[in-house]
Amino acid sequence: MNLRVRVGRTVMAAVFITLEGPDGSGKSTQAVLLAERLRRFGLPVLLTREPGGTALGLTLRQILLEPSNKLAVMTEVLLMAADRAQHVEEVIKPALQNNMIVICDRYVDSSLAYQGFGLLQDVAKVKTINEAAIGGLWPHLTLLLDVETETGLQRHTLASRRQGRSEGLDRIEQRDLEFHRRVRQGYNRLQESDPQRFAVVDTTELGVDDVAQKVWHIVRQRLEISEPEITCTKKEGESCEVNHCRSAGSGCK
Ligand code: TMP
Repeated sequence: MNLRVRVGRTVMAAVFITLEGPDGSGKSTQAVLLAERLRRFGLPVLLTREPGGTALGLTLRQILLEPSNKLAVMTEVLLMAADRAQHVEEVIKPALQNNMIVICDRYVDSSLAYQGFGLLQDVAKVKTINEAAIGGLWPHLTLLLDVETETGLQRHTLASRRQGRSEGLDRIEQRDLEFHRRVRQGYNRLQESDPQRFAVVDTTELGVDDVAQKVWHIVRQRLEISEPEITCTKKEGESCEVNHCRSAGSGCK
């Protein structure tokens, strides 16, 4: 398929996209939907996440999120950064070297927002530590899914119940409302200071499909993805797997 992926003026094969947002913003669902959509164009996509994108990272995730663990603030900062350093070396860099599109559910901005703004309230220190962890590998595009704090936490609790998560909220989710408010404000400060890299979608009033449409619109624009012209061959009522076109013979929208 004649599909170009560009970042700025450069035609790229390897693209690094991160999804960020407060708990309950729906970013994990959107990461999956975006990966599926890009794969439908035949693009090679690696979907991964933090913390826990490697075997070592899964152990770190368990330590970081177990509610009964009493971690010192700097321990939490360093374990998040250690998870990231391993993830970059073992998973993200090799995938980019193989010309893949990497979609990462949380990355360095999570540490800046949660540990920097939320916990330590010293963003510069968290940034210095994380710069060592990522070795200059900043994302090309960061999709910030914003959500009003109370709405996000309610959604998150409901989703956990629906998924039958017996363990309840994790160690970080359990923090008080003020912490989560600082995280949200932190994200907004981060995107204000780097509008080139960030794109924001306010998900507070939107359903999953509407957010997915907005995310796709941003990704197509920012990466200059041009969709190939396709003549739809589906019959009336059948759905087209490429663009979800429902009108027979008129071409996908
Ligand atoms: P998840 O629910 O998106 O998998 O993330 C687990 C929790 O870890 C979530 O509350 C956010 C938190 N977190 C940080 O505090 N700092 C980080 O650097 C990352 C990656 C996640």
